[in-house]
Amino acid sequence: MNESTPPPRSAQGAYGIAGEYVTSEAIYKKESDAIFSRRWLCAGRLEELDPSSSCLPITLEKQNLFLVRDESGMIRAFRNFCRHRGSQLVTESNCSSMGKRIQCPYHAWTYSRSGALTSAPNMAENDDFDENSHGLFEVSCEVFGGFIWVNFNPEETVAEWLQPVAKHFQNWQISDLRLGHELVYHVEANWKLIFQNYSECYHCPIVHPMLNRLTPYQGSSNELDEGPILGGPMGLADSSQTMSCDGKYAGPPIGNLTADQLRSVYYFTICPTMFLSLHPDYVLIHRIQRIDTGNSKVVCQFLFPTQSSDQQKLTPDQAIEFWDLTNRQDWNVCELAQKGMSDPAYQPGPYSNLESVVAAFDRNYLSELDSKRD
Ligand code: FES
Ligand SMILES: [Fe+2]
Repeated sequence: MNESTPPPRSAQGAYGIAGEYVTSEAIYKKESDAIFSRRWLCAGRLEELDPSSSCLPITLEKQNLFLVRDESGMIRAFRNFCRHRGSQLVTESNCSSMGKRIQCPYHAWTYSRSGALTSAPNMAENDDFDENSHGLFEVSCEVFGGFIWVNFNPEETVAEWLQPVAKHFQNWQISDLRLGHELVYHVEANWKLIFQNYSECYHCPIVHPMLNRLTPYQGSSNELDEGPILGGPMGLADSSQTMSCDGKYAGPPIGNLTADQLRSVYYFTICPTMFLSLHPDYVLIHRIQRIDTGNSKVVCQFLFPTQSSDQQKLTPDQAIEFWDLTNRQDWNVCELAQKGMSDPAYQPGPYSNLESVVAAFDRNYLSELDSKRD
């Protein structure tokens, strides 16, 4: 091998993680501090914050927040409790009627969209009451690629964080795509098993016969093989245009893609909350949310180009049906792994070379976990 030849993909010597990583409450808590409280978490798609409604309540990592456009149009995230006696401020039922101000439903303390307390009935009688020190608690929030990202303790901007895949966000014009369909799943498996499963196609011939016909499992290569963002392309079979039950496009290919990009599907994991699957004609997102050690919620969203004419009409049903089937096949094996790894007698086995990205996921996860000392 000369110096310019990339090293062969290998998982030589690597073994899976121990069962306690998917069962232990202590490790779950440690992940909260070491990973989930310092990384950018995807909170949703920009178009979910409907311009006609003023706020959107969200839950991230069991923490209640709400998103709002401030007076300048910037998206901001605030803790969803009142600075008086803690009432939740924004709910599913009141979010569309909040108007220009956020008014607490309990005693009517009122906040601006920038989080400042602007009115607190009868509090002027308290000599030492200072409105300025009772604004809402803000959480860092940025928009990138048409997604809203939240970080409880940011160490870098979201653009710096996503730099390894920034060119793909540009190539696929992800900011300009629009949410076309959403599937929501409850998976009885630890979040890491869902990441690990997405990171290899060793399982594809047995678990996904249809997927394996569209993209044969040995046609994958790694573009990012170390760090918190991992993945790369899989070549489409000659007979397939995209990932769908009939193998045909759901709409016109996304503009500006190269010939190689039009003949591949790119799969990336963005630890700890997102999978990004770039197809020639649409982008698929999985948002993974931890519920507890053995349960996760997965929101799967289909993004399509906006249509400018009838000739460009979308026919997304075959793609949606394909991914719903594939998702369910994946959740089934993740749930089987959760069950088996929860057995006290479980011992990790060795990875194959087709699982080199899983080994890379584990390395990054363990080093982030270790960065937080007990
Ligand atoms: S709890 Fe919000 S005004 Fe009293
Ligand atoms: Fe799979």
